[in-house]
Amino acid sequence: MKIGILTSGGDCPGLNAVIRGAVLKGTMVHEYDFIGYRDGWRGVIENDFFHLPRKKVRGIGRIGGTILGTSRSNPFKGNEHGEEVVLQNMEQHEVDALIAIGGDGTLYTANRLFEKGVPVVGVPKTVDNDLDATDYTFGFNTAVEIATESLDRLRMTGDSHHRCMVAEVMGRSVGWIALHAGMAAGAHVICIPEQPMTIDEICSYVESAWNRGRAPLVVVAEGFVPKDAGKDFMHYDLDEFGRPRFGGIATALAPIIEERLGIESRATVLGHIQRGGEPTGYDRVLATRLGMSAIDLIFDGEFGKMVALRGTDIVRVPFTDAIDNPKAVPQSRWDEVKVLFG
Ligand code: F6P
Repeated sequence: MKIGILTSGGDCPGLNAVIRGAVLKGTMVHEYDFIGYRDGWRGVIENDFFHLPRKKVRGIGRIGGTILGTSRSNPFKGNEHGEEVVLQNMEQHEVDALIAIGGDGTLYTANRLFEKGVPVVGVPKTVDNDLDATDYTFGFNTAVEIATESLDRLRMTGDSHHRCMVAEVMGRSVGWIALHAGMAAGAHVICIPEQPMTIDEICSYVESAWNRGRAPLVVVAEGFVPKDAGKDFMHYDLDEFGRPRFGGIATALAPIIEERLGIESRATVLGHIQRGGEPTGYDRVLATRLGMSAIDLIFDGEFGKMVALRGTDIVRVPFTDAIDNPKAVPQSRWDEVKVLFG
């Protein structure tokens, strides 16, 4: 059996550990052969791949990024017959199954291909932790560690200068990184897309921390918009899938806080720093287990499914359970953290 692996969408610490886990289990237990497609679906459509023997994955589990490269390319854009091209290419190169490692967009594409007869399984990936049907995604823990360390640093310089520090972290439609890193760093207010908040509310938490002699720390998820902001408060370009390219909400908020409260304020956008670097031990283990379990899915012929974390177990769920349904921060987690604000 020959298996093609691809990584698609934004990169994420732990991708290499998934690839290594899959190749090691596949070669050692089943004697499968592997190829790696370059840059996600683009490689599948353009037959751009290389052979992936065991020696190619040696030592990569602890390295960030992806040895396969990735892209946000949409195989169906300008190509109505994307499924047929994929099937033809697989047949031509005798590829029996695909492992697609990616987030919502990748799994959506994988599902579309599966419905047209492509034997494909998935491994969920996103630093944002916004995929339903899995408790946590690998990469999230690493991003939270990086963000927490950065917030600790911002608190220090904020304390020295008696400033309000506004830090922006990733999180398009959900605020998991903001919630966890903000809680870990003792933020005075956390703004997440799921929980609308007015600028006055944000300022009142900032003022209360300031009045207690603290240098206020505001953590804001990139996808947050204040409840009372007008339509034109933020403007974002769109990517190939028509999704906004976020970035800048902290830069917009800091001067408003400064103006309203008279507290000198600075904005920091952590951006892609959260996605680079080595995965934490937790993410390496989770990613390796997911990669190995993807091989079990293929061995059992359970295509159209992805592997997922439930508690401490790896389970199998249909693609359709994971896509189009971002996993929001539950109300109970918000009520819990709100007690700590101000
Ligand atoms: O993959 C999710 C994510 O990290 C988002 O949090 C962020 O908005 C986006 O990717 C950035 O994407 P890109 O790498 O294409 O700029």
